[in-house]
Amino acid sequence: MAADVDKRTPEEESKIWPQNGHRTPGSGSWIYRGMWTLLMICAVPVLAFGIKYYQDAQLLKRHEESVRTLGAEGLFLFSSLDTDRDLYLSPEEFKPIAEKLTGITPPVDIEEEVIHDPNGETLTLEAKMQPLRLDSMTKSKDGFLGVSHSSLSGLRSWKSPAVPSSSFSSGQFRVFLPPKNKGEVGDTWWVIPSELNIFTGYLPNNRYHPPTPKGKEVLIHTLLSMFHPRPFIKSRFAPQGAVACIRASNDFYYDIVFRIHAEFQLNDVPDFPFWFTPGQFTGNIVLSKDASHVRHFHLYVPSDRSLNVDMEWLYGASESSNMEVDIGYLPQLELQSTGPSTPSVIVDEQGNIIDSRDGSGEPIQFVFEEIHWSSEIGQQEAARRLEVTLYPFKKVSYLPFSEAFERAGAEKKLVHSILLWGALDDQSCSGRTLRETVLESSPVLALLNQSFISSWSLVKELENMQADEQNPALSEKARLHLEKYNFPVEMMVALPNGTIVHHINANFFLDQTSMKPEEEGATFSFSGGFEDPSTSTYISFLKEGLERAQEYLTQ
Ligand SMILES: *[C@@H]1O[C@H](CO)[C@@H](O)[C@H](O)[C@H]1NC(C)=O
Ligand SMILES: *[C@@H]1O[C@H](CO)[C@@H](O)[C@H](O)[C@H]1NC(C)=O
Repeated sequence: MAADVDKRTPEEESKIWPQNGHRTPGSGSWIYRGMWTLLMICAVPVLAFGIKYYQDAQLLKRHEESVRTLGAEGLFLFSSLDTDRDLYLSPEEFKPIAEKLTGITPPVDIEEEVIHDPNGETLTLEAKMQPLRLDSMTKSKDGFLGVSHSSLSGLRSWKSPAVPSSSFSSGQFRVFLPPKNKGEVGDTWWVIPSELNIFTGYLPNNRYHPPTPKGKEVLIHTLLSMFHPRPFIKSRFAPQGAVACIRASNDFYYDIVFRIHAEFQLNDVPDFPFWFTPGQFTGNIVLSKDASHVRHFHLYVPSDRSLNVDMEWLYGASESSNMEVDIGYLPQLELQSTGPSTPSVIVDEQGNIIDSRDGSGEPIQFVFEEIHWSSEIGQQEAARRLEVTLYPFKKVSYLPFSEAFERAGAEKKLVHSILLWGALDDQSCSGRTLRETVLESSPVLALLNQSFISSWSLVKELENMQADEQNPALSEKARLHLEKYNFPVEMMVALPNGTIVHHINANFFLDQTSMKPEEEGATFSFSGGFEDPSTSTYISFLKEGLERAQEYLTQ
């Protein structure tokens, strides 16, 4: 599979991206470079090669037959259903097509869930949405020139929530309760664990239908389905999954803050896939410790940054090329409870059941006691803990641009700054490769912690800063940064006064650290002296920055 990834010749590559090496936001190529690096690391154990070779040969033969039978586009559709990639469809894999053709959805086999308690409480959630601002997309600048109408059809037609309002039993929200070994304020845990790591790579792009959710995924899937019918609660790229943190508690209640990384597939057959990936979903739930009562529920996509959605779409029948990337601004995507959960039946003193929803009588008024927390942490602290759980690299704090330079000046350190097209702590593609490899490795963390103040910024933010005449010192620092920037990500080492002493582009960095299997594969093993080449390259980069800074400072 690795061999499929980046096998274009330079000539082919320059045909696809005539900008001559300068990769545009649309190219997507550097993502595959990162993938190549990762796959190379995975593809090594030599013993497995023989068996693997035989299997690959069989698969290749079957693949060729499939192309002859179906053509490239037909095979693309077939592969989107073939989740285990064996080039055969099982009944389970054929299910989305059967449902489409018959219009019948067989009852979902929801394990362990739906403990439907008729005496339980119910809660109503409302969904609100303001569609993505198309004019915030980079590609809107030239009127979406060269972007086919079918690519954006799912995006353009998604104007309101799929399900504006829905009722839930409060017991369903027990998925947000902490596991047995957690229960203190500040504790964090994975609600939906990530299944991605450096050795698993990424999930495929050519899928239209989310896999059947299981266990705790069911509720999250149902909630996100209120926005759009095709949520993938396991995103293709890290960060993946959902984490939660106890923000406050008392004897009866928890206030639990959560963060979810999921995405939507906006297109359906016959259009090519269009992935819509909000930076994150976050929110909180106030519920009783036995989940019998939900006081408040709120889930939303933060819209306080100028760009908060990553979009990737395919425009050809190939998984590994023909991919466009853009980012944009989504003003609102939000779920909120209309009020606390209430019982649907109540029992009077004589034990008679009174239907609280009986239209004939006066509606029953519920009075809820005010919740006083016996222990709590702030909203921001809870958010920080979630972040550290999701991204170990956050063990080193990344400060906003201006703060980083102030702090570096005060502590006589250098600024380690990452300038990127999308956001590093969002799900944006730009930070992806970096985050997953080098920034989490402990030698890099230690060096950053010891000698640098770290910061990351969006190109767009620095452009605004540069244009700000009110603050000439900051404007100059932004200018010096932008001067050295190349798409998609530039890592820089700067003096506290803004002079860039060293910088490296992410594409160049990945080229440096990717290994060709025929050159190094055979000597590379997991057991002896495993060291990630990107870690050592990044350490060298930082050390070189330190050395150059010395020269400046001792002049
Ligand atoms: C960073 O340095 C401080 C003090 O030198 C230390 O207490 C802390 O554990 C370090 N953190 C990491 C992630 O290395
Ligand atoms: C920052 O300080 C260094 C060393 O003193 C100096 O060489 C450089 O010109 C300064 N840069 C700016 C932008 O002031």
